[in-house]
This record gives sequence, structure tokens and C-alpha cells, in this order.
Amino acid sequence: MKCFFRSSVLLLAAMACQPNPPSDEKMNVFTPIDSRAISDNVVHLMADEWMLITAGTPDHFNTMTASWGAVGHLWNRPVAFCFIRPQRYTFEFAEAQDCFTLSFFDETYRPALALCGRVSGRDVDKVKEAGLTPRILESGNVAFEEARLIIECRKIYTDFFTPEQFIDDPSGIYPSGDFHKMYIGEIIHAWKGEKQGTKH
Ligand SMILES: Cc1cc2nc3c(=O)[nH]c(=O)nc-3n(C[C@H](O)[C@H](O)[C@H](O)COP(=O)(O)O)c2cc1C
Repeated sequence: MKCFFRSSVLLLAAMACQPNPPSDEKMNVFTPIDSRAISDNVVHLMADEWMLITAGTPDHFNTMTASWGAVGHLWNRPVAFCFIRPQRYTFEFAEAQDCFTLSFFDETYRPALALCGRVSGRDVDKVKEAGLTPRILESGNVAFEEARLIIECRKIYTDFFTPEQFIDDPSGIYPSGDFHKMYIGEIIHAWKGEKQGTKH
């Protein structure tokens, strides 16, 4: 009895220590899709629903919310664009890695994305605070179990915006000269994430 009690306490303690115990209810089933099969309106996805840009390794990664970006076709390849200011912690990871991922969520995750766009991974364990679960892709790149769409990109072109190249002044966007760096990534994989039981 004593032994049963002790092992139950240990089990409960171990469960409590799990930062983000994945629950079945949250888990999505991921189906690989061709980038041409991304049927969502990506303008709406990015501008209104936002996304998480994630870069790093399973042990050391960071993520941030973004609403500026694009998905398209360039140099005969499917591509995604995103734009990261140099002061973001995520910038360091995006610079250091060959790849990044874009994760899109349903409306339920709005507060999680708001948090990831408000605080820095330098100060806070955002993933834990936001209640998200990292999904380690086969490549070792990181996305999120709760995502309804994951796009995995390999960087093919990056550059900072420069003031002299602006034809129309993006008034008020860069008062302190912290111009975004543009990342163009070839889409190497995409997955549709669906709640178990809703797949059709
Ligand atoms: C809706 C929304 C969209 C954002 N879009 C961008 C973006 O496209 N590029 C960018 O550099 N920062 C963007 N941000 C700001 C970053 O998400 C925010 O500064 C974040 O805290 C950076 O986290 P990090 O320091 O951990 O990288 C956005 C924030 C929000 C809330």
C-alpha cells in the first residue's frame, strides 16, 4: 500500500513536471500536401490569422508571430516569403539555420499567437506560456502540433530592405531604421493538420 502510494505520488510529480503534456484533444493528424494544394487564402491567413515563424533545432529554437509574408512561385520553385526585424530573437535563429517553418492555426490559438508576438523568447519560454507543443519534423526543423497548416522552407535568398530602394515611402514603419530582413524560402514540405476524426 505504502509502495503504491509512493509510486502514485512519483507518477503525479512526473506528470506535473511535463511542461506541455500533449493531450489527444489537441493533437492533429498531419497529411503531407503539395504546395499547389494549399487551398487557403494565404493573404487572409497571414494578414488576419497570423502565423508563427520558427527556426532552430529541437533543443534550441525560437518562434514569433508574423502577419507579413507571402506564398508564391519564384525561380520555378514554390516559395514563401517572410520578413523579420533584426532585433527579434527569432532573427538570430533564422540567420543561423538553413531552414524555417511557418505554422498556421485556427482562431482558438489567437491568444497564443498574440503572446508569441508580444514577448521575446529571450525573456520568456513562449512555447510553454502559450500552451503550444513543438512538432519536430523529420528534418529536425520545428513547427507545432496544434497547427492546421505547416510550411517548411529552405532559405534561398535573404536581404535587408534599404531606404534608397523604396519607391513609395512606407511611412511610419521604420522610424528607427530597423529595416526588416526578407527571407525567401523554397517550400520543401507542407502539411495539413486536422483534428483526429475530422479528416475527410
Ligand atoms: C500580429 C503580429 C504580427 C507581427 N508581424 C511581424 C513580422 O512580420 N515581422 C517581425 O519582425 N515582427 C512581427 N511581429 C512582432 C514579433 O512577433 C514580436 O516582436 C515578437 O515578440 C518577437 O519575438 P522574439 O524576440 O522571441 O523573436 C508581429 C507581432 C504581431 C502581434
